[in-house]
Amino acid sequence: MSSVLATGERTRIIGVKGEKTMTRLLRFQTATGIASLVVAAVQTAFPQETGKPASSYSPVVIHEAFATIRARMEAAKPEVMKRHTALLEERYDLSNRPASGVTMARSKPVQQGVRVKLASGRTWDALARMTPEEIKSGDAFPKGFFPLPHPNHAEGGMLFPRFLIDEIKAQEQRDLTRFDLDFDFPDHLLPEFPAPIFLTTRPDLGDVSHGKLVTIDNFHELFNGILNPKQLEGLRLLVTAFPQQQFNGTEDRRTIRPSRGAACFDCHANGHTTSATHLVGDIRPQQFRHRIDTPSLRGVNIQRLFGSQRALKSVEDFTEFEQRAAYFDGDPVTATKKGVNILERGSQVHFMGEFQSLLDFPPAPKLKIDGKLDPKKATAQEVRGQDLFFGKAQCASCHPAPYYTDNLMHNLRVERFYNPRLINGRMASADGPIKTFPLRGIKDSPPYLHDSRLMTLEDTVEFFNLVLELRLTQPEKADLVAFLRAL
Ligand code: HEC
Ligand code: HEC
Repeated sequence: MSSVLATGERTRIIGVKGEKTMTRLLRFQTATGIASLVVAAVQTAFPQETGKPASSYSPVVIHEAFATIRARMEAAKPEVMKRHTALLEERYDLSNRPASGVTMARSKPVQQGVRVKLASGRTWDALARMTPEEIKSGDAFPKGFFPLPHPNHAEGGMLFPRFLIDEIKAQEQRDLTRFDLDFDFPDHLLPEFPAPIFLTTRPDLGDVSHGKLVTIDNFHELFNGILNPKQLEGLRLLVTAFPQQQFNGTEDRRTIRPSRGAACFDCHANGHTTSATHLVGDIRPQQFRHRIDTPSLRGVNIQRLFGSQRALKSVEDFTEFEQRAAYFDGDPVTATKKGVNILERGSQVHFMGEFQSLLDFPPAPKLKIDGKLDPKKATAQEVRGQDLFFGKAQCASCHPAPYYTDNLMHNLRVERFYNPRLINGRMASADGPIKTFPLRGIKDSPPYLHDSRLMTLEDTVEFFNLVLELRLTQPEKADLVAFLRAL
């Protein structure tokens, strides 16, 4: 463990000893009830432990040969993966249990059942009868509802599922394999791959991907004649790889060979998501950064806030700044070293934004124009679920029809239910306000929440049942899930 933790200076602030000390400090501080002191204590705890002052910057000069870094991190990898796998197994049932008769837009089965494990002797109903204070003082909040760490939180960085890596390698001979880390969730819990693409401008065409992953290799052949030249150029840039923190040509990379970089559509594959993960760029220090699940770009045309917390106001801004900043952990100093690509606003950013805004939600044949169920097509259970969604379960107060987002952010204050603690290098405390992600097409984009902490729609219903203190019955929960699947 300590050999990984000594890795580079990006990870220096995390240490096993520090982890214990900080948990102690936090217990003490929260016991005194002075929240602002908690943060102060955390920020000063590590420098005292390590003897080094805290910094927002990553190191620019690497004082170790690439071969040495690689050997050290490869040797540490089994232990890192073992620790993370143990955490997932403690929290979730990761088995392959598809729901019958319900698939994503093309054919991938949707997974069923609550996957967050309960401590022995607990039931969901009993938990829901407890107040947030009782859950907190009894340490009864289910482990799977806590913030989920990156597979190696101290190190972080972009991380891709194997099926995406294999397909990019086959098409482009570009290798997105990291020598230090593998993606964590099994494939059956991830979105359909390659995902179908529906265009707002040509709904008559249905899925325009023809079952292929769109890359620099085939985008022209697939889209010439369907898009205008501006959109075609925007798409070209979205499938073009640019240097990035872990994927670049310097010795400070996590690929065996120097890398050409990562493309927007490596993560937002076919304008949807592979659930590739990352750490959010906008928080310091490292242990407070959120793991983030790649959001689908379907339906960005009707949204007004971008990023789980960044709250950028346009797709164009997000496009321009994603590459300049988030690719490099929000650090323009390393971006300059590794090869930032500044996009020109009028002829590149705008074109990329225009293509993204053509990406439609998948068809939902049971919904009417107002986004609600057509009673002639829906089942009785789905209709009951809709009544709950707009009534007792309060979901519609933040997720109104037709797209099931209010285009705002909300602070769910999940920290009401637990005392702060470090989980594998991730400081689980208050997450703050998060964007209300739309629920149209939601069955196609597991896992759920900004940090992928929930595997199924059933998990999200249990989560909101506690967070909103709803006390739904078991049949009501099943009805809500049926409705969510129809969106
Ligand atoms: C590591 C995979 C990855 C790559 C590569 C990537 N993104 Fe993202 N993208 C994400 C994640 C994760 C978020 C959520 C960020 C957050 O919560 O702050 C995101 C958010 C977005 C959003 C806002 C979506 C929303 O619903 O709020 C847009 C737009 C976007 N990305 C466009 C791009 C573009 C354009 C590129 C290429 C320049 C790109 N992304 C490259 C993972 C990626
Ligand atoms: C107070 C506002 C609010 C209410 C009420 C609410 N939600 Fe949400 N919902 C959010 C926010 C904010 C997020 C994003 C949270 C995150 O990512 O951490 C979210 C996320 C979700 C997600 C995951 C979206 C994704 O892309 O991962 C689902 C599913 C969901 N809500 C379903 C529901 C259901 C079902 C209800 C009613 C039982 C409900 N929500 C009630 C605000 C709300």
